[in-house]
Amino acid sequence: MILERTYVIDYGGQYTHLIARRCRELGVYAEIVPQEVIFTKGMLVNVKGLILSGGPRTVSESDMSTPFKKNMNVLTKLRIPVLGICFGHQLLAIACGATLESGGNPEYGHTLITRVSDDSMLSGFDKEHNVWMSHSDQVTELPDTMTALAVSGDQRVAAFKSNDGLVYGVQFHPEVTHTPNGMTVLNAFLRDVCRYEETWRSEDQIDDIVERIKEEVGEGRVLMGTSGGVDSTVAAYLIRKAIGDRFFCVFVDNGLLREGEAEEVSVAFDEMGFKNFEAVDASDEFIDGLKDVEDPEEKRRIIAETFIRVFERKAHELTDKHGQFDFLGQGTIYPDRVESAATGIGTAMIKSHHNVRLPDWMQLKLVEPLKDLYKDEVRRVGHKIGIPKHMIWRQPFPGPSFAIRIGGPVTREQLTILREADLILQKGLIEANAYSELWQSFCVLLPIQSVGVMGDERTYEQTCVIRMVDSSDAMTASVSQPDWEVLLRIASRIANQVAGINRVVYDLTSKPPGTIEWY
Ligand code: XMP
Repeated sequence: MILERTYVIDYGGQYTHLIARRCRELGVYAEIVPQEVIFTKGMLVNVKGLILSGGPRTVSESDMSTPFKKNMNVLTKLRIPVLGICFGHQLLAIACGATLESGGNPEYGHTLITRVSDDSMLSGFDKEHNVWMSHSDQVTELPDTMTALAVSGDQRVAAFKSNDGLVYGVQFHPEVTHTPNGMTVLNAFLRDVCRYEETWRSEDQIDDIVERIKEEVGEGRVLMGTSGGVDSTVAAYLIRKAIGDRFFCVFVDNGLLREGEAEEVSVAFDEMGFKNFEAVDASDEFIDGLKDVEDPEEKRRIIAETFIRVFERKAHELTDKHGQFDFLGQGTIYPDRVESAATGIGTAMIKSHHNVRLPDWMQLKLVEPLKDLYKDEVRRVGHKIGIPKHMIWRQPFPGPSFAIRIGGPVTREQLTILREADLILQKGLIEANAYSELWQSFCVLLPIQSVGVMGDERTYEQTCVIRMVDSSDAMTASVSQPDWEVLLRIASRIANQVAGINRVVYDLTSKPPGTIEWY
């Protein structure tokens, strides 16, 4: 049972998840909630502090300030410490009677602030400290009940506290790595101001998770489709641990996977002692279904439909053999579930591409043992329960697999070319000890031909893109900056060894404006 927790009130900022993850890294369990939670009876039990996220809107928009001010007044009367970040900082400031100016000189990116107080909130910062800002409105004047802790530019309030020590605001983003020592601000708020005492760690939650599955499922039977990715593997392991032989796991080989992947998943589940594990080779059904299809969304639709058909067939077969299933296991994790305030505060949402909608006849209830955890937390759980390392550190891989990494129609020939190139990339990165640092690394096959020369021969072949990104949740991603020699070595191997490719390029686009996958 979770005793202490903090809530991150979501105003739709791009870093809301990051704030929650940082709190958890500091050992304080954090959940993302809509602001209505503060008006809901009983929701604040064991909540010793609240954090207000940033947001895409400006407080000064006239229709916003009145309702927000009312809410902030409720919030500041709760006598629970509250920290506002960016938009949250501005909301709290106006609620406490400060002056907010709109427009002017926006501050984006690295910005120098000057500490003007010895308050412990900023004790991890230098007198002059570089922080990450992203705002246009600014807090300019504070009432007597509040004290500035830091200023930026022409005396804008970069951080403040209320004199009763309950309300804090920081205009900058302490949660991003671009703010050096930003974690000291969150730590000071959580530990010194809110006085959180317990240390929460995902790997300590395993017994509770298993108990919850037992309670939820009772004597029922659970069916689950696994992709062999870390989320579904850890989820499968925990459900099996909870209910043993009443758990059945199906792996569908869609023929669009990486080299050796289908065998690897079967071997790993066998080694982990799964008795009711079934691999279904449906390669032909998927590849034939994709014939002549170029549009990536159409590819996604066909793959999802084919998956349901194959899974349904297998489920029928297992039902005939073992009786009706009651539950469907899923590897849903926290970011899949919590939608941002920008599109509907606090609504639970399952990404359609992560979770396939099943036919009505199955009428299964969901079991989602990892629904409250982030990916790094799932990995720590996986490590503790002894999931093989190569399964835990697998990079995320999209459900439609190589079909959305091939420009134009998917054919067996194109799949072979991409598989060979991708294998060279992954091997090269593992050899250079660079693989596990990356969020994702993969090749994309472009049906764009260009002229090359091999020996004395002119070639006219396709282009391979190498895509390598750093990210913490795939919502945003930056271009990875690998060792140049390693990259050149890999590119040269691909261009020289893979028949059908004579040119290799490196993708320099971050997300946004690009997406991680090409198609
Ligand atoms: P994008 O390309 O949207 O990708 O920046 C974000 C993350 O989602 C993965 N991705 C998918 N995963 N089905 C999936 O299961 C899909 O259709 C799909 N499209 C993208 C992508 O690999 C990245 O991790």
